[in-house]
Amino acid sequence: MNGLDVGKLREDFPILKKKINGKELIYFDNAATTQKPTQVIDGIKYFYENLNANPLRSIHTLAEKSTKAYIDAKEKIAKFINADSPDEIIFTKNTTESINLVSFSLRFKPGDRVATTMMEHHSNILPWLRLKPYGINVDLVDTDENLELDYSYYERLPDDIKLVTLTHESNVSGTINDVEKVVKLTHEKGALVLIDGAQSVPHMKVDVKKIDCDFLAFSGHKMLGPMGIGVLYIKGGIAEKMNPFLTGGEMIKSVRLDNVIYADPPALFEAGTQNVEGAYGLGLAVDYLSKIGMDNIEAHEKELTEYALKKMSSLDNVEVYSGKSRNFGAIISFEVKGLHPHDVAYLLDREGIAVRSGFHCAQPFIEQKLKQHGTARASFYLYNTHEEIDRFIEALKTMNKKRS
Ligand code: ALA
Repeated sequence: MNGLDVGKLREDFPILKKKINGKELIYFDNAATTQKPTQVIDGIKYFYENLNANPLRSIHTLAEKSTKAYIDAKEKIAKFINADSPDEIIFTKNTTESINLVSFSLRFKPGDRVATTMMEHHSNILPWLRLKPYGINVDLVDTDENLELDYSYYERLPDDIKLVTLTHESNVSGTINDVEKVVKLTHEKGALVLIDGAQSVPHMKVDVKKIDCDFLAFSGHKMLGPMGIGVLYIKGGIAEKMNPFLTGGEMIKSVRLDNVIYADPPALFEAGTQNVEGAYGLGLAVDYLSKIGMDNIEAHEKELTEYALKKMSSLDNVEVYSGKSRNFGAIISFEVKGLHPHDVAYLLDREGIAVRSGFHCAQPFIEQKLKQHGTARASFYLYNTHEEIDRFIEALKTMNKKRS
């Protein structure tokens, strides 16, 4: 058994007490977004009742409180991912915006090359394909039959490589990539590495110093925090060599119409009034996760995933696409033979079980590598239980009976 008291921590999540379609909710759509504990929900109310003002501008008492809330949140997040300084943390809307920021702000020149992979979410493909008309070459590193990356690509990186980007954990198969190996090989070639941590940072201890990545992108809403707040970590010394992203308020030192002097990072990348409520809420989510312990969360999810994979593999009406790689997280893509993934999701929903179905914003991977037109996907988090998996398995079995 792992060190998590799931029964106790479930009390912190009011939505888990809800009935959906007359059944107790089983929430298995955590890769899309997670539920929120009262510590975060109440904290946001506390922010608006006690701390609300526009931070980093005015000098009145409330503005100072709000500024402190914003900076404290950066400090918590920096510590959570073991960054050297809160100045390496940029607040964005989400992972998508974080990756787009890098794609817009890194100083690419025609002839440079970016390598992304076939297992990416659209948000780590489209920001790079967008650069092609500007003369940037884009490689898509392939995957094998176990849904592992073709690491040999990184062993012979092209000379014109400028940036390597890859997901830490696939949002479709759950494959966890060996990012440390990729970073080492890429740095030997003098290029930078961006990690999409949307599916890893919420579920395991991610240490930017250990990985040695140059950029790490992740979203607050997938780790118990509010929607609309995301993070881009930029290793010290790199942001100074990048262009601004959005321009406007608070990202400048001086504006004369013939001479604009930009602010230093991180302010350079945080134009306009920021989502301070979101930053504050994400800070509380990080407190919550840290108190429970990322190692405990990872161990619990591993147990659940192995339990579910074993049970699912015994169902002859179910094909599972996850769990083939050496290392994988709590994401299981599957099909019920003969049923469209949306029908599977609909039938599960009738039983109160929430899963995602479709392309999961990874159409190239699903069409070209899984040779499917979508999958159903169950994804677990710290509050899920073995009993919920048992109910899920029973529902899958019933689905089969209904068909025959
Ligand atoms: N990226 C999220 C998912 O995989 C929305 O479902």
